[in-house]
Amino acid sequence: MLKKILGKAVSTLAGGDDFAIPQHDSPLFAGLDWDKLPRHVAVIMDGNGRWAKGQGMLRTAGHTAGVKTLKNILKTAIGLKLDALTVYAFSTENWKRPETEVSFLMNLFSEYLHKEVQEMHEDNVQIHFLGRLEGLPKSLQQQMHDAEELMKDNTGVKFNVAANYGGQDEIIRAVQSLAGKAANGELNPADIDEAMFDNSLDTAGNLPVDLVIRTSGDMRLSNFLLWQAAYAEFYFTDVNWPEFSPECFVAAMKDFASRDRRFGGLNDNKK
Ligand code: FPP
Repeated sequence: MLKKILGKAVSTLAGGDDFAIPQHDSPLFAGLDWDKLPRHVAVIMDGNGRWAKGQGMLRTAGHTAGVKTLKNILKTAIGLKLDALTVYAFSTENWKRPETEVSFLMNLFSEYLHKEVQEMHEDNVQIHFLGRLEGLPKSLQQQMHDAEELMKDNTGVKFNVAANYGGQDEIIRAVQSLAGKAANGELNPADIDEAMFDNSLDTAGNLPVDLVIRTSGDMRLSNFLLWQAAYAEFYFTDVNWPEFSPECFVAAMKDFASRDRRFGGLNDNKK
């Protein structure tokens, strides 16, 4: 029975029924307002464990199924020509989980990179990892570094994977870096402005986050992209991450298009 459950999860990761990058005229994109798409979308991929439990499977099978979802959402983001897709894979708080689940996740990330890097490269993706990467297994750090190097000159979607990431931790690291430069006399503290701070974060070079999507019903930010999401719109859905389809992602794009973004100002009708 266990073999059957795990077998199902592993064959999910192996793919098989591959989802191709949807083209501009794909039925998936019917009714989409292309002029009102977010440029940078961030996703909290929640509910893997709950989904697996609901299927009578181990929590870890939910993570394996979540990889397939991630592959499909990345392909959809490429089809939409988003500037950036940033996903929360492992938080600084996730170390509190059972050791077996943590090591399963580390192996899953490693396997994912091993299997997917070449295809992402062919799809012109620029991968980048956010977080305190030195806290991750050495071999995984090397794989991450190699993947970033391979794709550094690509010009397509920026695919940021947050691993051992916490928004507060990222801000502290940026402050430490700037304070160090100020202490060395390399920097005048009065010159620190929003642009300089932004450039000191792991997401340097990315546009601000326009839309944060969180699956599985909870409505919180969970220490994700605290600075970058300052003016983001939020989209919450009860769908668990393994069942979050390209159609669900496009529904979030349509919802975003309907938002009145004022950035603290007034909209045109009220001027
Ligand atoms: C949250 O679900 C999910 C995670 C902590 C891990 C996310 C990892 C993946 C989606 C795997 C793919 C990622 C990469 C980069 C290959 P949960 O376990 O908190 O679910 P629950 O809230 O139902 O328990």
